[in-house]
Amino acid sequence: MLFLKPILFSAVQPSGNLTIGNYIGTMRHWSIMQKKYDCLYCIADLHALTAQEKNMCLSKNTLDTLSFYLACGVDPKKSIIFIQSHVYQHSQLSWILNCFSQFSELLRMTQFKVKRNVEKNHVKQTNLGLFNYPVLMAADILLYQTNFVPVGKDQKQHVELTRNIANRFNSIYGNIFKLPKPLIHQYGSKIMSLLEPQKKMSKSDTNKNNVIFLLDDIKSVSLKIKHAVTDSERPSKIDYNIENKPGISNLLEILSAISNKDMNILLKELDGMMYRELKNIVSDCLSKFLSKLQRSYYDYRNDECYLKKVAHEGAMKARLKSEETLKIIHSTLGLVPYFK
Ligand code: TRP
Repeated sequence: MLFLKPILFSAVQPSGNLTIGNYIGTMRHWSIMQKKYDCLYCIADLHALTAQEKNMCLSKNTLDTLSFYLACGVDPKKSIIFIQSHVYQHSQLSWILNCFSQFSELLRMTQFKVKRNVEKNHVKQTNLGLFNYPVLMAADILLYQTNFVPVGKDQKQHVELTRNIANRFNSIYGNIFKLPKPLIHQYGSKIMSLLEPQKKMSKSDTNKNNVIFLLDDIKSVSLKIKHAVTDSERPSKIDYNIENKPGISNLLEILSAISNKDMNILLKELDGMMYRELKNIVSDCLSKFLSKLQRSYYDYRNDECYLKKVAHEGAMKARLKSEETLKIIHSTLGLVPYFK
C-alpha cells in the first residue's frame, strides 16, 4: 500500500462498552478523515492489559470494537484497520523507545497520576505497564511516520511526550522519526457525565445514568437525557452564555456532534427554547442515531469470519509498513541485521 497522503494514526482500547464520548471525541471523525489522510486505525489491546480486571473478555471486546470501527464508516479498502498485538513491531519499538524515555517525564503524565491514585485507594500495586503506557503509545505513532494523531484533550500530553521522545532520538541519530501533531477538535473532544458534568463521561462510572453507551437500549437513552443536569439556576430558556454551565454546554456539544451542525447555527436554531424542549431534541436525535449505528454494528458483529479477515489483512499491511521503519531504527542503532 502506497502512502501518498499525510498519515493519520488513531486507536481506541478494547475495554468494552464504548460510550458516546468515545464516538464523539474520536470515532466520529474517522470516516471523513479517510478522504484527506492515509489512515491507520488500531485496536490497542496491549494497552488494555494495563488495567487488569477479572473477566476482561479481551478477545470479545476486541471484536466488538472492530465492529464499531466498521459501523462508524471505517473502510478496510481505504484504511488499515488492525489489532495492535498482531503487529509485533509495536512491542519491539516500544522497548527501544523506553531507552530514550526518562523516568521523570513519565512520572509527570497526568493519566498515570490519576490511575495510580485510583489504584492506591484500592491498595493495589501499580503495574509497570501503566507507567510505560505512553511509551507504547509513542511506538504506535512513530512506527508509521505519522503526521497527525486525532486525540481527545486527555491524550494530548501523550502526543507531546511522543514528540519529545522522537526529538531526543533524532537529535542523536538525525532525522529518523517524523514529528506527529495532535489534531484536536474544537467541540466534543471531551464529553462530560450527564449528572456530574464537571467530570468526564467514563465507561467505568459506577452510576450508569452518567453515561450513554453506544449499545444502550434506546428507551433508556431518553430517560438518561431527561434526567441530565442542565444548570443550577433553572432559567426558563436556554442561556446563550454557556461558559459556566457545564451541563447545558455538554448537551449542546452532544447535539452538535450527532446532528453534524455547527455550534453557532445550532444556538441560533434553539433561540428562545426551554431546557425541556432542548432535551427532547437531544434525545430524539440520539435515539435515531444510535438505532442506526446499532443495526450496522450487529450486522458486522454477527459475521466473525469477515471480522477476522479484516483484522488479518490489516495486520499484513501494518506489518509491512512498520517493518520499514523498524529496519531503519535497527540499523541506526547498530543492531546486527537478521539474515534468513
Ligand atoms: N491511549 C489511547 C486511549 O486510551 C489509545 C491509544 C493507544 C492511542 N495508542 C494510541 C491513541 C496511539 C492515539 C494514538 O484513548
